[in-house]
Amino acid sequence: MKLTPRLQAMADLIPLGSIVADIGTDHACLPVYLILNKISRRVVASELNHAPLQQAKETVAAFDCLQKIDLRLGNGLHVITAVDKIDTVVIAGMGGQSIATILRDGRHKLKDVRQLILQPMSEESYLRLFLAQNGFALAEEVLAREGRRFYEIILAKAGQEQEKDLFRLSLGPRLLEQKPPLLPAFLEDKIRKLKVVYHSLQRAEKDDVSRKLQDVARELYCLEEVLTGVTAGTDADSLS
Ligand SMILES: C[S@@+](CC[C@H](N)C(=O)[O-])C[C@H]1O[C@@H](n2cnc3c(N)ncnc32)[C@H](O)[C@@H]1O
Repeated sequence: MKLTPRLQAMADLIPLGSIVADIGTDHACLPVYLILNKISRRVVASELNHAPLQQAKETVAAFDCLQKIDLRLGNGLHVITAVDKIDTVVIAGMGGQSIATILRDGRHKLKDVRQLILQPMSEESYLRLFLAQNGFALAEEVLAREGRRFYEIILAKAGQEQEKDLFRLSLGPRLLEQKPPLLPAFLEDKIRKLKVVYHSLQRAEKDDVSRKLQDVARELYCLEEVLTGVTAGTDADSLS
């Protein structure tokens, strides 16, 4: 089984010998890959909905992994129990707010979990702030790219997040520190999208957009400063 760059980047963060819960597994490609490549000993692969669970069952059966992948129907972390001894939880391909809701609702299931691997499709900043305010440190962050689309992957662990600057925290503090090769293109993409928002706000010419316009202009300025720092090889730590 060959994974897409997004799923591969997540698989690369999963420790050898782990016991994983993949919440919202859909096609179950990640669990199958983890078992076939002997990265995980067991996987609980869960789904909220019947149709994707059925699809997951077909994939798992096709790769002869039914012994090691336990498929469950249910909402979020409610499907896992202490008996499962899950050490790694993956929640990927949902909005950042949905991921935060799953973590909040299932907080009591995370006591023995060593790491969370989270891949929001949107509201990435919301999720980072949620994690930092709820006792999780952003241990590692990676970027993946499929065509023109970038994906942000967060490895979070129980602990105190050290980044205090809200702008850096929402953008990805470990990305800014480690400067992965995709970072300049990722920042350029963010700036390009934010410029579209800025110009459409400018065209709206309503009084009530002026505050929003100022916020967007400030964010654009900060992003451009970060990009300049990254491409010049310096850290834009001084931004506030
Ligand atoms: C877009 S798919 C992502 C599949 C896979 N995780 C990936 O990243 O490629 C999102 C899946 O999450 C499931 N889902 C959404 N909310 C859920 C929840 N609260 N609990 C379990 N599954 C959920 C949906 O049914 C859907 O199949």
